[in-house]
This record gives sequence, C-alpha cells and structure tokens, in this order.
Amino acid sequence: MVPWRQKPIVLRNLRTDDAPRLARLHANAFHRGWGEDEFEQLIASASSVGEGAAFSERGNLQGFVLSRIAATEAEILSIVVDPTARRKGVARALLSHHLERLRERSARELFLEVDEGNSAALAFYENFDLKPVASRQAYYPRASGERGTALILRRALD
Ligand SMILES: CC(C)(COP(=O)(O)OP(=O)(O)OC[C@H]1O[C@@H](n2cnc3c(N)ncnc32)[C@H](O)[C@@H]1OP(=O)(O)O)[C@@H](O)C(=O)NCCC(=O)NCCS
Repeated sequence: MVPWRQKPIVLRNLRTDDAPRLARLHANAFHRGWGEDEFEQLIASASSVGEGAAFSERGNLQGFVLSRIAATEAEILSIVVDPTARRKGVARALLSHHLERLRERSARELFLEVDEGNSAALAFYENFDLKPVASRQAYYPRASGERGTALILRRALD
C-alpha cells in the first residue's frame, strides 16, 4: 500500500463552481464561515489568486489557498485543508505553488492574519518564513464569546 504522504497532490486554479466546496471546507475550520456567494465573488475577482488541491485529477478538493493582490502587496485571505487530509503536505504544496503565482503577478510582499492561538497555522507559516510584524487585540470571534488576538505575518516575495 502506498503511504498517504507519497500520494500525489494535484493542484489547479480555483473556479467559481468550487465555491460550495470551499464554503464547506472553510466552515469546518473556522467559527465564522464565509458563504458560497462570498467565495464565488472572490474567485471571480481579477485581483484574486487561488488554487485548490486534490489527491487525484478529478478528486474532491481537500484544501485551497486564496489571496488578493493590491499593487505589489498580496494578502492571503484563507488557507484551509480538510481535517481528514491534514499533515500530508497539502498546505505546503499549495503555498509553495501559490508563492510562485503571486510573484508572477508582481507581488513583492505577502501579508496574512492569524489567530495567535492557532498553533498549527503558526507552525506551518514559520516554515515559509512568515514572521509577525503587528497584532490586533480582541479581533477573532471565538465560540466561547471571547475574542482572540490576530497576528499580522509578513514576508518578502523576492
Ligand atoms: C494550517 C493548515 C492549513 C496546515 O495544513 P496541512 O496540510 O495539514 O499542513 P502540511 O501537512 O502541509 O504541513 C506542513 C508543515 O507545517 C507544520 N504543521 C502543519 N500542521 C501542524 C500542526 N498541527 N502542528 C505543528 N506543525 C504543523 C509542520 O512543520 C508540517 O510539516 P511536517 O508534517 O513534515 O511536520 C491546516 O491545519 C488547517 O487547515 N487548519 C485550519 C485552517 C487554518 O487555521 N488556516 C490558517 C488560518 S490563517
């Protein structure tokens, strides 16, 4: 049997008809999900760049990354991997490819916001040299009613 880690990860650009799947993946991961309409609009926008990952050419998307670009700054709006597909290199494959696409679109800096309590995401981003440059207090709504601090991470895209 082929171990999961050696399974191929197939990447492709997001399409507007991926919106329902992306909304489900997002709602599984975050307390406040985004609707299908929001995803559809984001994917259709000329300033957006997004890719999805599956384990086969026609397989369901197991994860996605979506950014928007303004001038030379890119911001990752969301990166999510289905809970059943985590720790198999899906997000690493997505972000590695995504950085190339952002560079092709002339982005020179990358930013994103992450909940300071999201240790998995912070460990993941550290591999990509994304470093905290600022924070926003009481930013993320949590199921408990409390609000978590957001860290702003940045890296150059040279
Ligand atoms: C963060 C997330 C996208 C990572 O996706 P993933 O496909 O599981 O990540 P990968 O398998 O590509 O991991 C690459 C590396 O990141 C680090 N990493 C990923 N998840 C980790 C975790 N739970 N704990 C510690 N390190 C982790 C490891 O260094 C890992 O390499 P390794 O598996 O060889 O040790 C995923 O956990 C997720 O979807 N979380 C919910 C949504 C989210 O928080 N998104 C980011 C919000 S800003």
